[in-house]
Amino acid sequence: MKAPRLPEQPPPGPTRPGFWRSPLRGPWLTSILGSALLPLIAISAITGFLSQASYNPGLGHNSVLPGGGLGWDVFGFSWPTSPAWLYAFTQGLHVICGLTAIPLLLAKLWSVMPKLFEWPPLRSLAHLLERASLALLVGGSLFVFFTGLLNIQLYYPWSFNFVPSHYYAAIVFLAALALHVGLKLSTVRRSFRRRGVVRPLRADLEHTEPEPYEEGTTAPLEPRAPTMSRRAMLGTVGAASLGVGLMAVGQVVGGPLRGLAWLTPRGRVGDGPNGFPVNKTAAAREILPGETGPAWRLQLDGGRRVRLSRDDLLAMPQHTYDLPIACVEGWSTTQSWTGVRLRDLAERAGLAGADQVLVESLQKKGAFRRVTLSSKQIADDRSLLALRVNGVDLSPDHGFPARIIVPAAPGVHCTKWVGSMSFERA
Ligand code: HEM
Repeated sequence: MKAPRLPEQPPPGPTRPGFWRSPLRGPWLTSILGSALLPLIAISAITGFLSQASYNPGLGHNSVLPGGGLGWDVFGFSWPTSPAWLYAFTQGLHVICGLTAIPLLLAKLWSVMPKLFEWPPLRSLAHLLERASLALLVGGSLFVFFTGLLNIQLYYPWSFNFVPSHYYAAIVFLAALALHVGLKLSTVRRSFRRRGVVRPLRADLEHTEPEPYEEGTTAPLEPRAPTMSRRAMLGTVGAASLGVGLMAVGQVVGGPLRGLAWLTPRGRVGDGPNGFPVNKTAAAREILPGETGPAWRLQLDGGRRVRLSRDDLLAMPQHTYDLPIACVEGWSTTQSWTGVRLRDLAERAGLAGADQVLVESLQKKGAFRRVTLSSKQIADDRSLLALRVNGVDLSPDHGFPARIIVPAAPGVHCTKWVGSMSFERA
């Protein structure tokens, strides 16, 4: 049976060039939106990969990718412990830039909409490959940005694992984007050379002209009269981006801006010295009060096995440092933590100068119930098994009876409700 042939002429609707009539669309608008988007995507990409590196994926079961990812530590360096705000900064930037990019991305996609309905949909093998790369670009960008947005709400309306899906989709998206930017660079240069980078922004509504129609571009064949200038359109998109970005800044820097973090809602939990944000409460992690009561013991392994009660730990030298908890969802909060140095615990376990420590939580499930900390992290004076915060005992939601606090480590590595620590040689 012969395959049905597509009509030469596009059917009525969005595949007809005359269907898309906004006078604002055209290579210049797409180029300026793409140029604004590019640095935000670059920062999100770099900080996203740094977030993977911060897990020290080469150690123990730290890799959050299935099967340990590629099976070796692609980053090849141990995550530093200084400055203490490092992860708060990199992950804060990741979320701020990711959120700021969303209004720009939507505007960019609006600007190229006519090209998504090109007719005929497939002309040749080369055209098929080009369309496939665009499907990866558009699909990849929407997937990466919107899974990120939902993740910071702790809302998971899907059954796949967020971290590997977001990570691998980002790699596909970035590869498609590199190809796309390479192919479009000449269009960007030509548009800016012809029309100037900012000149079209000077035109008010009365002087807003459509870009000249050119087959194969997004400039309209039959433009309508403008109802807004390019300046007004880009101003609106820019204001939406800045507004969303500012809301995200609040959760990183704290202070009065934190109240604005509607898209990244991490409220205080409780009052008083323990009244600061928390991601997973003791109830959510099914920590039973009996497990953390007077019968609780910390099991230390190294050269020998030691079991310590909370009073035993409080009898050891106590140290206090102001350190941030910096969450993978981008928020951070600096508090004053008091507890025992990890390296004192290594010595107590009979393995001073240990190369790594496997920390296990009382949590029965959850990706981060076991974490391996590096020799650098153990050796830092400020790395603590914290027992108290802001001068009082930790609350159950902040990890009572004891939690890890390591400078510059991602929050998920600051294990709460610690049950055991095994110091090891590499
Ligand atoms: C998330 C990122 C991006 C997505 C999803 C995206 C998507 C698209 C799509 C679907 C098209 C239409 C297909 C085509 O003309 O081949 C297009 C065109 C274009 N894009 Fe992008 N793009 C992105 C980023 C960028 C960046 C960073 C730049 C520039 C630095 C850029 C510049 C352009 C240009 C100049 C065109 C042609 C516009 C025209 O012919 O009128 N894009 N983009």
